Amino acid sequence: MLLEIKSLKKKFANNTVLKGINLSIKAGEVVVIIGPSGSGKTTLLRNINFLEQADSGTMVFKDKQLNLANLSNEEILWVRRHTAMVFQNYNLFKNKTAIENISEGLIFGQNRSKKDALQLAKKALDSVGLLDKQDFYPAQLSGGQQQRIGIVRATVLNPDIVLFDEPTSALDPELVGTVLYDMKQLADQGQTMIVVTHQMSFARNVASRVVFFADGEIIETGTPSEVFDHPKNKRTKQFLSAIAEDY
Ligand SMILES: Nc1ncnc2c1ncn2[C@@H]1O[C@H](COP(=O)(O)OP(=O)(O)OP(=O)(O)O)[C@@H](O)[C@H]1O
Ligand SMILES: [Mg+2]
Repeated sequence: MLLEIKSLKKKFANNTVLKGINLSIKAGEVVVIIGPSGSGKTTLLRNINFLEQADSGTMVFKDKQLNLANLSNEEILWVRRHTAMVFQNYNLFKNKTAIENISEGLIFGQNRSKKDALQLAKKALDSVGLLDKQDFYPAQLSGGQQQRIGIVRATVLNPDIVLFDEPTSALDPELVGTVLYDMKQLADQGQTMIVVTHQMSFARNVASRVVFFADGEIIETGTPSEVFDHPKNKRTKQFLSAIAEDY
């Protein structure tokens, strides 16, 4: 296993948002998390790379045992160095160009020289056909382009896992496909990914495993066909019949 989460619990004041999550991910797997709004999906991703600290639970990541309630700064930095997150609202630095957004982490996170970082960033932009946008600022790019650069920024660091939090939900419908295409390419290259999304066709076609999440718990997990065609739990069935999309 690359990542093994056990009994992860998190509450905000009196609101228990994660009720004891157990989730294991092998290298190369694409785990797609689906579920209703407010069920704790974002909180789970934020707990995995320590943007949020869990109240209790353990995690084994790359064979390192971590006590989630009691992490050292060193452990936090180490996990952050080996994971990357792609956000719903892209979160690019507005005052930096595309190539600067991508090279930043290579220079400051990985101590590369500026020259090496720019070279790597260029290569990465080129590989997704965005090299002509290298000197554009986020405001000069479409949402789809910004998000695709957000993905390059995350993956250029060569993370063991990339966490995607509804990467296409802020996009105009005609741009969604361009981002999903890049994500499918990454999956095909063997990148381990956890993807929170409402794009059921992506889940169906790309996921190694689908997790249905509701009320702070994993309700059901299985292959896309198991979850979409033969859901076992009543709530999974309800959720799937309520979403107005073919899958
Ligand atoms: N920083 C916070 N402080 C207090 N409550 C929070 C915080 N972050 C999240 N919550 C609460 O945790 C619950 C789960 O939120 P979360 O954002 O994880 O849901 P979600 O499944 O990602 O929903 P959506 O599909 O709408 O993005 C909500 O009730 C939310 O109000
Ligand atoms: Mg969310």
